[in-house]
Amino acid sequence: MKTLTILGSTGSIGQCALDVVRAHPGRFQVKILTAHENVARLAAQAREFDASKAVIGRDGLLEDLKAALSETDIECAAGEQALIEAASQPSDICVAAIVGMAGLRPMLSAIRNSRCVAIANKEPLVSAGPLVLKTARESGCTLLPLDSEHNAVFQGFDPRAHKSGSINRLILTASGGPFRTWSLEKISSATVEQALAHPNWSMGKKISVDSATMMNKGLEIIEAARLFNMPGKKIDVLIHPQSFIHAMVEYSDGSILAQLGAPDMRTPIAHVLGWPDRIATPGRRLDLPDFVRMDFELPDDTRFPALRLAYDSLEAGLPACIALNAANEVAVESFLDRHLPFGSIIPCVRECLEEDIAALSADPSLEEILSLDLDIRARARHIILRCSDKHSISDKKAAILS
Ligand SMILES: NC(=O)c1ccc[n+]([C@@H]2O[C@H](COP(=O)([O-])OP(=O)(O)OC[C@H]3O[C@@H](n4cnc5c(N)ncnc54)[C@H](OP(=O)(O)O)[C@@H]3O)[C@@H](O)[C@H]2O)c1
Repeated sequence: MKTLTILGSTGSIGQCALDVVRAHPGRFQVKILTAHENVARLAAQAREFDASKAVIGRDGLLEDLKAALSETDIECAAGEQALIEAASQPSDICVAAIVGMAGLRPMLSAIRNSRCVAIANKEPLVSAGPLVLKTARESGCTLLPLDSEHNAVFQGFDPRAHKSGSINRLILTASGGPFRTWSLEKISSATVEQALAHPNWSMGKKISVDSATMMNKGLEIIEAARLFNMPGKKIDVLIHPQSFIHAMVEYSDGSILAQLGAPDMRTPIAHVLGWPDRIATPGRRLDLPDFVRMDFELPDDTRFPALRLAYDSLEAGLPACIALNAANEVAVESFLDRHLPFGSIIPCVRECLEEDIAALSADPSLEEILSLDLDIRARARHIILRCSDKHSISDKKAAILS
């Protein structure tokens, strides 16, 4: 039996991971499950999978969690520190599925203490990739890419060929999101509901908006650079609306190895949970005779400028990557709260990147990274306020600044 911790078990990835666990009775022993505020779902999961411990991120929800788990011997805890402590309990595998930079500290804690950490939570890799990788090297933890594109690269990536310089490039595919065929004008005024309506994938809100702006693919370019030690110029993005091919690895001999599968996260999740063995997915499968066609297009930088911002940030270095991610998190949250128009998300990120960004030391500590991240968040909030003033929604100022 593999012991398993899931950080962010109530989210889209967390629930898919538990689907895979449910399909393999006796194979996994669920130790720790965590959420931010969804007490009811966390408690139901903890009961169903007989977890040893359930942790809720919001301090004030401890009593609710205890009440929901009364008459069980499941340990309950609450707050950020409790999350970090829970993540430090050794597991054979920990799934890092919190959304955003909030996942960084628990992820580091898991890396220091678990044998394997499967990473879906891409934002910490973008903003603190070198620290995450260094922590894994020092503690001997294996990092398994769970994001579908990176999991696909992982499956086709020959480290020996990489060492000898025989990998020409990685090709990450992108569905193009819900606005792939929309005009720039129509995209600018897209609503929250339209941005959340992804054509192929069912995901959490933040990543759905990121897919609509294509910032998700931008973050993934940086994530791939970190995980596979490849320069940005060797990482290409190709629009593939059907989302059957998740990524490709091109070798110097002209071979291109692609990983195919249904657009269902339970395939990469089954891959990492079973690794190094293969286990069955309870999810959808790709029925090859059924697929009528596979299309490919080049991304359009004019309608989707996020990709260029990500390449430039990767080239500029870690402070720019921190700024890209922090500004994007704030802008997306503001859009979801209906304080910022969709068309202002990427301009807000760009403006944050255009101002001076503090330098970091050569081997930045967690504190340095988080301090710059916080500064950029404050900067992004001020930019959004200015933008709100222009759009006369000043009554929402306080909410934005909070
Ligand atoms: N969804 C996908 O298909 C997919 C694919 C590839 C990669 N990813 C990446 O995986 C990560 C999770 O995505 P998701 O779509 O599963 O997100 P999601 O559905 O929004 O779930 C996020 C999870 O994190 C918890 N959480 C949120 N804020 C937190 C905080 N401040 N502290 C602690 N926990 C917090 C949530 O708890 P509550 O439920 O209580 O709010 C929930 O369990 C993201 O980084 C995303 O980019 C997702």
